[in-house]
Amino acid sequence: MSTPFYQINSQEAYDKAYQNSTQNPEMFWESIAETFKWKKRWTQVLESDFIKPDVKWFVNGELNITENCIDRHLENQGNKTAIIWEPNNPNDEVRSYSYAELAKEVNKFSNILKENGITKGDRVCIYLPMIPEAAFAMLACARVGAIHSVVFAGFSAKALSDRIIDAEAKMVITSDGLVRGTKKLLLRNIVADAVQNCPSIQTVLTVKHTGDNVNTNHLDVWYHEAYEKASEAFEAETMNSEDELFILYTSGSTGKPKGVVHTTGGYMVYADYSFRNVFQYEGDDVFWCTADVGWITGHSYIVYGPLLAGSTCVMFEGIPTYPEPDRFWQVVEKHKVNQFYTAPTAIRALMACGDHHADKYEMDSLKVIGSVGEPINEEAWNWYNEKIGRGKAALVDTWWQTETGGIMISNLGKIGIHKATHAGLPLPGIQPVLLTAEGKLIEENNQEGLLAVKFPWPSMIRTTWGDHERCRQVYFSAFENHYFTGDGAKRDENGLYRIIGRVDDVINVSGHRLGTAEVENAINEHPQVIESAVVGYPHDIKGQGIYAYVICSETARKDDAMRKEMEAIVSDVIGRIAKPDKIQFVTGLPKTRSGKIMRRILRKIADGTSDSLGDVSTLLDPSVVDSIIEGKV
Ligand code: PRX
Repeated sequence: MSTPFYQINSQEAYDKAYQNSTQNPEMFWESIAETFKWKKRWTQVLESDFIKPDVKWFVNGELNITENCIDRHLENQGNKTAIIWEPNNPNDEVRSYSYAELAKEVNKFSNILKENGITKGDRVCIYLPMIPEAAFAMLACARVGAIHSVVFAGFSAKALSDRIIDAEAKMVITSDGLVRGTKKLLLRNIVADAVQNCPSIQTVLTVKHTGDNVNTNHLDVWYHEAYEKASEAFEAETMNSEDELFILYTSGSTGKPKGVVHTTGGYMVYADYSFRNVFQYEGDDVFWCTADVGWITGHSYIVYGPLLAGSTCVMFEGIPTYPEPDRFWQVVEKHKVNQFYTAPTAIRALMACGDHHADKYEMDSLKVIGSVGEPINEEAWNWYNEKIGRGKAALVDTWWQTETGGIMISNLGKIGIHKATHAGLPLPGIQPVLLTAEGKLIEENNQEGLLAVKFPWPSMIRTTWGDHERCRQVYFSAFENHYFTGDGAKRDENGLYRIIGRVDDVINVSGHRLGTAEVENAINEHPQVIESAVVGYPHDIKGQGIYAYVICSETARKDDAMRKEMEAIVSDVIGRIAKPDKIQFVTGLPKTRSGKIMRRILRKIADGTSDSLGDVSTLLDPSVVDSIIEGKV
């Protein structure tokens, strides 16, 4: 098979594509969009306004993304394996689905949705473990034209109900239970708690997975029962290119998570394009992304990107350390994985368990190994490169966000300069810039600044669900005519970008994005807490840990039991991923005269650099700083 022109497989091809993409972006994207199956061609490639913002790609085009993920592959590669599912327990059976089998599963699922009243534009919440049905559910929503909102199954009942209420979802799709390592969670029971406060929910569709007894009520439909009766044929709904494909909630600097909205045509084009090029997918390669479908990485690089490209993709139910910390490498060997994509937090955790776990496996199949979600430190980069890539596989450090829909800055397989801790150059079609805080363009290299993007790309965020003004304010108001990422970055002498981290009140714990305000709001629910302030601090495994400074009422016990109570509240309100690592009881917080908490000072105390606090004399009560330093935990 000859290489498609949009598969960039050399430095020269990259340079040429990048030049084309900036000189004539519309022609560049149009030529890629032409490789997909559309029901009706677009009348205009791009309509863009970064002020409102109002961005449309492939205007008036009509399609269904699932015809591109599934149907168009049936003729030539219906028997090719689409999904290989590796269960939590290595002794359980692997389940594999060819493209033809995937078509059958998704059609049946689509009929089940339709029979239960789901139609175009309805919102469906998916709260499932990492089982093939999670992918089928997402694709079935897309096939009937419903908008899916996948909620990570580690989130609590309260976090789930907040997301259901915000999207006014009509249905939740869940399973009886979930297993990860030795832990089990009865998801259906969590859903029962959540939907008590969700009047919009008409159906709870439950997949039998663990076989546990769970609470059911009049809302329940069992998936396996509906499956028996469901037809194997389903005509995909016609969608406008700009119809919403999904909502994915993510944290920002305020307390309430926002529903990032992605639309159909542009997301499709970019998910496929970025997947093929970053991972240099070819032929019968086996690709494995270890993320959860609850995050954007799972959306773009477990489900949509790999299936659009007609690839074979591994989906893994378990965790890296079960039954032993060699599980990833065992699975790489077992399925002869060619491209492997994971997060720095997993790499650091496995590195700490010792090299022997990796050394015993044959991993010659690996051609590209990827990292995503947080900055990868030099030690982890080197270990990943040497012990896993064995100096042969190309390491790609991929920078992107829920809002960008796909990978924005990364080497493309072996192409580019591979330098530890540097994501590299932008993909052709992506135009990042560094700006000063005042919005001045930094043109020189070897400079640090705020990372923004100056030209639209097809998979960019269109709005925040139900609150367009929030989208404008958060991403498009900081710098006129630019999308602002919230990240700081440095560009080296060769133009390679190194992502430094968030410049807003967002922390990144094990690659999970959390707003400090979200965690503070949860802590403040403790009846004896008066005020709290949360910051991130460097953590060896998680990248960032959560440090909470808490002011309590005079009568509070201020002991470990109270710490545990606060942790339990945070787990209930958000989920276990948001539990503070350290809680310090304080009598006051460093505030400006206008009452704003100076988090910069709290961050320095938490990371042990309080000797460089700078001038604190402008604080309302400078003496509070010394007492916080003294009581550091
Ligand atoms: O700070 C950046 C960090 O993760 C943030 C986006 O988080 P989320 O929307 O949850 O998406 C994660 C998966 C795409 C970014 O603003 N981030 C992501 N990738 C990298 C990174 N930081 C450094 N290097 C990366 N490769």
